[in-house]
Amino acid sequence: MTLTPRIPRVVAFAASAKRPARTRFLVEAVAAELFRLRRIDLRVYDLLDAGPGLGATQRSDLTLPAARMIDAIESADALILGTPVYQGGYAGLFKHVFDFIDPAKLAGRPVVLTATGGGLRHSLVVEHAMRPLFGFFAAHVAPTSVYAGPDCITHETVTDPAIAKRITAAASELSALIDVARAAEVATTTRHTFETSAG
Ligand SMILES: Cc1cc2nc3c(=O)[nH]c(=O)nc-3n(C[C@H](O)[C@H](O)[C@H](O)COP(=O)(O)O)c2cc1C
Repeated sequence: MTLTPRIPRVVAFAASAKRPARTRFLVEAVAAELFRLRRIDLRVYDLLDAGPGLGATQRSDLTLPAARMIDAIESADALILGTPVYQGGYAGLFKHVFDFIDPAKLAGRPVVLTATGGGLRHSLVVEHAMRPLFGFFAAHVAPTSVYAGPDCITHETVTDPAIAKRITAAASELSALIDVARAAEVATTTRHTFETSAG
């Protein structure tokens, strides 16, 4: 039995509360690099897409735009995630979004982590705050994360070559993790088919 290769559904989510926004630009930059490597079906969301209804405390109370975004995150084949740094940590609404997610749904999911801040002082937010959160979810997080300070992105252009390199590395790692997840899916389906037919 063969599985028809499916174009991976990739969701990029930036917890940006305005537009234009540097975090949204950063997740889009990673997505653009991934697109250079392989075909993807990409959806990009920020807090404006989710709308004020995201403030609900129960998933069943989310308004349609917010519920659609949560569903898209939960069912994506891979995630490119970004948050602005607020008060030395990830934005409260970034965490709020993931409080709605069923933990089982993100296990083994390929993920790239990114953040932007007003300086470089909080650049380890990606490692010390975001990475443990996705460790909780048992997601497959790319080793390279990307943090961009104020001088790294200017007028929607990556002006720091070191950041551009990290964006390329993160996208390439995400592509490899998508292949790993796909191989695991095929192996599980094949085993299930064998066990079912063996009776
Ligand atoms: C309420 C608030 C708190 C912030 N706290 C920090 C901070 O602790 N450290 C930092 O480097 N930048 C901080 N910033 C700056 C933002 O992280 C920075 O401007 C970010 O790039 C904005 O991302 P966006 O354009 O996607 O909204 C803060 C901004 C706001 C509005």
